[in-house]
This record gives sequence, structure tokens and C-alpha cells, in this order.
Amino acid sequence: MLSWDDEIAPTAPVGQATVGTSGLRPTPQTNFDLPEPRLQTQAIDLNVALNPALLTKPSVVTPELAAKRVNAADKRIINGQTDVNQLVPFKYKWAWDKYLAGCANHWMPQEINMQRDIELWKNPNGLSEDERRLVKRNLGFFVTADSLAANNIVLGTYRHITAPECRQYLLRQAFEEAIHTHAYQYIVESLGLDEAEIFNAYNEVESIRDKDQFLIPFIDVLTDPAFKTGTTEADQTLLRSLIVFACLMEGLFFYVGFTQILALGRQNKMMGAAEQYQYILRDESMHCNFGIDLINTIKMENPHLWTAAFRDEIKSLFLRAVELEYRYAEDTMPRGVLGLNAPMFKGYLRFIANRRAQQIGLDTLFPQEENPFPWMSEMIDLKKERNFFETRVIEYQTGGALNWE
Ligand SMILES: [Fe+2]
Ligand SMILES: [Fe+2]
Repeated sequence: MLSWDDEIAPTAPVGQATVGTSGLRPTPQTNFDLPEPRLQTQAIDLNVALNPALLTKPSVVTPELAAKRVNAADKRIINGQTDVNQLVPFKYKWAWDKYLAGCANHWMPQEINMQRDIELWKNPNGLSEDERRLVKRNLGFFVTADSLAANNIVLGTYRHITAPECRQYLLRQAFEEAIHTHAYQYIVESLGLDEAEIFNAYNEVESIRDKDQFLIPFIDVLTDPAFKTGTTEADQTLLRSLIVFACLMEGLFFYVGFTQILALGRQNKMMGAAEQYQYILRDESMHCNFGIDLINTIKMENPHLWTAAFRDEIKSLFLRAVELEYRYAEDTMPRGVLGLNAPMFKGYLRFIANRRAQQIGLDTLFPQEENPFPWMSEMIDLKKERNFFETRVIEYQTGGALNWE
């Protein structure tokens, strides 16, 4: 472990290697080599020693510099003019709080024991054919979905958001998307599934391809280097993509899949995979809530974007997304399985779509739909102090250590 107090390594004779702060490195042999970084530090210290006034020289804040200091009230989620490199003073405390909560929920896929899943999958009588199809089609969507999500954040959304608190959360979220992709890959590898089949499902399985093709144009528009916010049309384009991503991708397209795997877990099947999904669900519900807060704050700061025509367009996107997710439910469950069937999901998807619409200030799309899976709400609200399944998390702190009893 290195610290700032490391001794400066003595210079070795020319041609020999020295061990510096960055490990073994050859000593420079020609005048063209860069000087040792440590020697630069020494030179700076020498200047200070020769001129003690440097130590006491106060920084001078001229009126021009003072005027440049960030005022929290001037910050904006989009099209802001304040310095994006200065996290504080905070304006969007909700984003910072979600960043802290995301860090406190840190987990890694390898911490979850997959042994019982492997035994069950390898046992010819362990699962029915319908259950196996469900698991493979389920992973077929998720193994690429979170890469789409990560690319959307890193290459698209991030650069258009001018509030550093929100950028801080997006950085955390991007890493969580990487962990999710890792978790799905880990399940595929643990079960010994055909990787080519699963990872190509988003090209080769119609119900999965249709969902992804619905999403991709909304991602592509933000990743286009020529796209810039600053006009009503461009700002509506960004807002539309944020709504599709938070409310329809993370907030709707994940829910058939999550429900299926958690239903397996409720029947003591694929408990490791179900536990991975439970952690992912917790992360995703925070992503979805962050996205909704982001959308609502943009709406508040830019009320002219929320026109009747724009709201109608969003409603039609909601309807299309419900239809696509329902087709995915039918494709993954051509017959009843695990006490679930596709028609039950019609009600569930309408119930979730209503909730998402209300969360961003739209009218309910399907009046009087009720939740056919109330146990899913319990899963989402779970604080993880006690695990739903038989493995029990007794401590869950930053650092990711899980203790099993
Ligand atoms: Fe994710
Ligand atoms: Fe996400």
C-alpha cells in the first residue's frame, strides 16, 4: 500500500532499476527520458524552502473571480452555465442522497452462491421445459439490456446533464449497470448455457429484438455527437429519451423478467439467480426513481417543454411499450408456468404503466387496474436487512461484504 508519506527512493546508478511509487521502473539512461516524478517533487520543496513567503501567500479572490464562484441557485439540470466540475454547493440534494444510497447498497455477483442452481439446472428432472425456456429467454433479454443502459448513460445522457450532483449519481448508476451485466453473464456461465444463443437473443428472438429496437433510437439520438440541447425541440428530444429510459425501459421492460425469476425463487428454484435479481431489482428501482426525479425537475425548470402534444406523444409511447412487454410475456410463457401466465401480466403491466405515468404527472392510462402480484411490491420495498429467501444478509454495508448464516 502506498501513501503520500513514502520515502523518496534513492537514485540508482544508471542502467539499474528503481522501485518508485509506481513499481519497478528503469532508471533513465538518456537525456530524452522524462525526469523522475519524485525529483520534481524535491525541486518544488526546494523552491518553498528558499522562499518561505510562498507558504504564507494568501489566495487573492478578485471581484471577477468571486463573480465566477458557483451559486447553487444558478444550477440547472440541463443547459446550465455553472461549472460542472464543482460538486458543491449542492442544489439537487436528492441526487446526492441517491448516490450515497447506491454506494451503501454495493454488491458483487460472485458473492452469491450459485451451487444449488447449478445442481438443479444439471438435473434432468430439476426443472420443466417451460421453466428452462423461461430462464433462457429471460437472460436473453437481460444480458444485453444493461449494456444498452450503460451506453445510454455514458455515451448519451451524461454529457447533456449539467448538474454535477446528477452526474455523480449517473457515474454510480453506470457502474451498477456493469455489475448487472456481470451478474447475468455470471448466471449464464454458472449454468453452462450456450453463450452464443443467449447473447444473440436480442438479434434472433423476435420478442426481445422488438423491445430493443423500440429503445435504440431513443439512445442513438443522445449519443449522436451532433446532438446538443438548448432549443425547445432538442430539449424535448432529451426529455423524451429520459422518459423512455426511466419509465419504459428500467420502469416497465424489466418487470416481466424480474417477476419470473423471483417467482422461481419463491418456489425454492434457482435461488442464487433469484437473489442476484433481487439485488438488481433494488438497484433498478433506485435508477427508475432517480430518472423520475430528474424528469420532474427538468419539467419544473422548463415548463414550456411539457406541451399537450408532447404529453400525447409520451402516452402513445407508453401504450406501445406495454404492448411490446406483453408480447414478451407471451413469448416467454406460451403456457402457464410457476403459477404465472401471460394474461396475468397484461394487468400487471397496465398497473405499472399507470404508476409510471402518474409519477411524471400524466393521467392514468388504464383506469382501475390492480396489482396481481402484490408480493413484487414487497420485494421492491425490501431494505435488505433480511433476505426474502433462506440465505440471510445480516450486515450490508459499503465494501460489499455479505455475511451468510
Ligand atoms: Fe441494470
Ligand atoms: Fe438501471
